[in-house]
Amino acid sequence: MNITILSRNAALYSTQSLIKAARAKHHYVRVIDYSNCDFIIQNGNTDVEYFGESITNSDAIIPRIGESYTSLGVGLLKQLEVLDIFSVLSSQALTNSRDKLSCLQTLVKNDLLVPKTLILHNSLMYEELIDTMGTYPVIIKLISGTHGVGVLKAESRSQAVSLLETFNKTKQKVMVQEFIEEAKGADYRLFVVDGEVVASMKRQAKAGEFRSNLHRGGFAEAIKPTHEEVETALKAVSLLGLKVAGVDMLRSKKGPMILEVNASPGLEGIEGTTRVDIAGKIINYIERSV
Ligand SMILES: Nc1ncnc2c1ncn2[C@@H]1O[C@H](COP(=O)(O)OP(=O)(O)O)[C@@H](O)[C@H]1O
Ligand SMILES: [Mg+2]
Repeated sequence: MNITILSRNAALYSTQSLIKAARAKHHYVRVIDYSNCDFIIQNGNTDVEYFGESITNSDAIIPRIGESYTSLGVGLLKQLEVLDIFSVLSSQALTNSRDKLSCLQTLVKNDLLVPKTLILHNSLMYEELIDTMGTYPVIIKLISGTHGVGVLKAESRSQAVSLLETFNKTKQKVMVQEFIEEAKGADYRLFVVDGEVVASMKRQAKAGEFRSNLHRGGFAEAIKPTHEEVETALKAVSLLGLKVAGVDMLRSKKGPMILEVNASPGLEGIEGTTRVDIAGKIINYIERSV
């Protein structure tokens, strides 16, 4: 097969791992910087070109769309859908899952457990609404942050209000979230490929930190998720329309609570921690589908 990876950086671990897995199965694979693709929209002759060459001879696409390129990525995936090229990520699934807000909205609509979350637009209501969380601290996070950057803990109402005012002033979209204390600084990533949880890890925040991200010094170990966690992850991924995804959850008093679902999950942390050949599983999924 002819497989195209859409990635801005061929040197990244995830991209390299996918290249190796595709070559190991004797596929032709190339990496394309999706920020430099040109679209031709024409009845009967729609095309996507990369440096003047059509990429429509691809049998399958593996998109690795970065956070700040979402709208470009959605446009490109849709263009490839016009051409009926198989992709492990659809434009709709990317739209559904990309920011934390739209992801939580889809999950809560379908009765999956998420932390109570506020998106506040009226500054006169900040204090009153934040108090509905019941207790402090509360979490304040950027709607489109990653790697734990832009996730803060406000210890008091006055601190929360002044953070919201600051973000508002700098025009950054944030959410206020109940702090799930019983998670004890740990979150769980379940990696899903084609309706199956193929690998899972627990990430524990370092001492004095509540964010468990590996980029923030968290420590990861492979775990066996509970039946309920597996069911929750599979339901979330299917609601969002994703085939390859990393589902992040906290163990709360009420049950598995979903924090976010990542449509272009990194492979380095999870492959390194669990020793599962996830890239190989993604290639197997493509082989079954094309
Ligand atoms: N509501 C919350 N309660 C407790 N811990 C949280 C909460 N939200 C986030 N965290 C911690 O902070 C980390 C980063 O938050 P997350 O929403 O995943 O942002 P990012 O996209 O930057 O990873 C999580 O992995 C988790 O450990
Ligand atoms: Mg996260």
